[in-house]
Amino acid sequence: MQLPIHRVNAREAAASGRRVLRAGWILLLAGGLACIPARAAGPKGSAAADTAKPAAASDYVGADVCATCHEAEAKNFAGNPHRKMVLMQGANGVTCENCHGPGRAHVEGGGDVTRIFNPGKGAPKQVDQTCLGCHAGAHPDFERSPHARAGVGCANCHSIHHSEETAELLKAAQPTLCFQCHTDVRASFNMPFHHKVPEGLVKCSDCHDVHGTFEKSNLRSRNDSNQICTKCHTEMRGPFVYEHTPIKGEGCMGCHTPHGSQNARLLNMPSVNMLCNQCHSPVAAATVHGMGAGSSELTPCTDCHTYIHGSNLNVAFLR
Ligand code: HEC
Ligand code: HEC
Ligand code: HEC
Ligand code: HEC
Ligand code: HEC
Ligand code: HEC
Ligand code: HEC
Ligand code: HEC
Ligand code: HEC
Ligand code: HEC
Repeated sequence: MQLPIHRVNAREAAASGRRVLRAGWILLLAGGLACIPARAAGPKGSAAADTAKPAAASDYVGADVCATCHEAEAKNFAGNPHRKMVLMQGANGVTCENCHGPGRAHVEGGGDVTRIFNPGKGAPKQVDQTCLGCHAGAHPDFERSPHARAGVGCANCHSIHHSEETAELLKAAQPTLCFQCHTDVRASFNMPFHHKVPEGLVKCSDCHDVHGTFEKSNLRSRNDSNQICTKCHTEMRGPFVYEHTPIKGEGCMGCHTPHGSQNARLLNMPSVNMLCNQCHSPVAAATVHGMGAGSSELTPCTDCHTYIHGSNLNVAFLR
């Protein structure tokens, strides 16, 4: 079941809105909006749930009518990115009803709450469907993301009318938002050495896309998974004449931990030598270097093997 008004207005919007809206967005309008779910599967008691027939254009009243009773919502809406939806409807301004569904029955019922869709009360899946009706283009993988599968939906992180972060309509800024649920991750950012996420210098979303990706742990998709890190740490990007094999093989996470560590260089082992000796036999190191048993524990390997991420000059990364 569909909301015909979106179809009717899609062409119109494509014509009138192109100047202002993103190209991808227009494609979505022209091709994708027809799949906005009607509120047929609405929450119990919602008007839309009662009617099995598709909504007609005459079931919509326009934002100006909503504003007569919902002054606060209408006023706050001025700075909302969804304001741009006015352009989808020509001058009709059917912004509110794009999310709340057709409002005539609600209005004629004097504000009958059973005859309007309130996403604040809807089931997460149903709210997600409403939002994805327009945003699936930018977030095509949401439904199979760990968040969606755990029942965490758009409304857990976003609020349309009561957001703290107006740009992204977030309920709370990062990382506060994330720490509400990920208390174990908060603990790792409390370690003595950590990426400055709590300090606001780096964001969770620099490395993760919470809307779902093809990588594990919702990591942002890149051609090469090291790019998640080398985007900022450009000096480790390479290529080098002499590559250290695990950089390409295991990747940055072969030696580092991303959130926080007891180790100042965010190593996933307490000391450099313990890290190296996982792969390079300590006995061999002692023999080759003539340092004798035990001494390899004293001098950090990287005192000599300084260019451990790769070198253009030396096969043993000494310079
Ligand atoms: C004649 C006045 C009136 C008009 C016009 C009106 N509403 Fe309402 N609306 C109300 C009243 C009264 C309530 C219930 C009291 C409240 O929660 O504020 C309400 C509640 C709501 C709710 C919350 C429902 C719930 O389950 O809690 C939403 C959403 C809503 N209106 C959206 C709209 C939209 C969208 C429009 C325009 C299409 C609109 N309203 C037009 C009077 C009106
Ligand atoms: C992009 C989708 C969207 C648009 C557009 C939208 N709303 Fe809402 N509305 C929501 C969501 C989601 C909620 C639940 C609370 C929240 O997330 O802020 C909500 C809640 C409400 C409520 C219930 C009270 C509250 O604040 O929680 C009212 C009333 C309401 N909206 C009116 C309006 C009016 C009037 C407009 C047009 C000016 C409008 N909405 C436009 C999504 C939308
Ligand atoms: C009818 C289409 C439509 C629906 C339904 C819709 N949106 Fe939007 N959304 C838009 C448009 C248009 C914009 C503005 C895009 C732009 O700025 O280019 C927008 C912007 C946003 C932004 C801000 C994007 C930015 O770059 O700052 C967020 C966050 C967002 N929407 C979340 C939601 C959520 C959550 C819901 C469901 C409650 C929802 N939207 C429902 C059309 C929609
Ligand atoms: C776990 C929290 C979380 C959930 C769930 C979530 N978002 Fe977001 N969303 C964010 C954060 C954080 C940002 C800003 C960082 C970014 O862009 O990744 C954002 C940004 C956005 C943006 C603007 C930037 C962009 O990439 O287009 C849109 C639009 C958006 N979300 C829509 C949605 C929709 C629609 C849903 C549900 C299908 C949803 N979000 C679910 C946290 C969330
Ligand atoms: C409402 C609670 C909630 C909020 C808010 C939330 N998450 Fe989640 N997150 C979950 C749940 C539940 C899961 C799935 C179960 C799990 O893996 O812990 C999950 C999964 C994840 C995963 C994948 C974990 C894995 O092992 O694959 C990442 C990464 C993640 N969240 C990051 C974030 C970030 C970043 C934010 C803030 C922008 C955030 N989350 C906000 C509840 C939340
Ligand atoms: C510097 C990049 C980076 C930042 C910033 C970052 N993460 Fe991660 N995160 C990762 C990587 C990489 C993994 C995968 C770790 C692995 O596979 O060993 C991960 C794993 C996770 C996981 C799943 C495994 C676990 O440790 O529980 C969650 C949940 C998570 N991150 C949440 C967050 C939250 C919440 C924030 C912000 C407070 C955040 N991350 C900031 C890179 C980052
Ligand atoms: C958004 C940019 C950004 C991304 C992405 C990023 N980092 Fe960082 N990283 C930084 C900044 C900034 C610092 C220095 C912070 C400080 O001064 O404490 C840092 C510090 C470090 C350090 C400690 C360096 C020192 O000063 O001793 C290591 C190790 C590190 N990052 C590894 C990684 C790894 C591995 C990844 C990928 C999972 C990654 N980083 C992703 C910005 C980033
Ligand atoms: C073979 C293990 C290993 C791998 C793989 C690795 N690193 Fe490192 N990294 C180290 C060691 C050891 C140090 C500490 C060097 C020292 O003690 O000075 C370090 C230090 C760093 C530092 C701190 C600044 C510096 O120059 O000392 C950053 C940033 C860093 N690594 C980023 C990365 C990134 C990004 C990747 C992936 C491209 C990566 N590392 C892969 C072992 C590794
Ligand atoms: C995850 C496993 C791993 C870790 C950890 C690791 N390496 Fe390596 N390293 C390798 C592999 C594999 C090679 C390539 C060996 C070969 O080609 O014979 C290599 C090559 C080297 C070489 C060059 C040898 C040559 O002559 O080609 C040096 C020097 C070296 N590593 C030093 C270190 C040091 C120092 C550390 C600790 C900071 C370290 N490695 C950590 C796996 C690792
Ligand atoms: C005092 C400086 C110094 C320290 C400390 C040091 N190395 Fe070396 N390492 C060298 C030199 C010099 C070479 C020989 C380079 C050459 O042949 O060109 C070398 C060669 C190597 C090689 C390549 C030769 C081979 O074994 O195949 C590896 C691997 C290596 N070191 C690993 C380590 C590890 C692991 C540690 C720490 C446990 C370590 N080194 C500590 C100076 C050092």
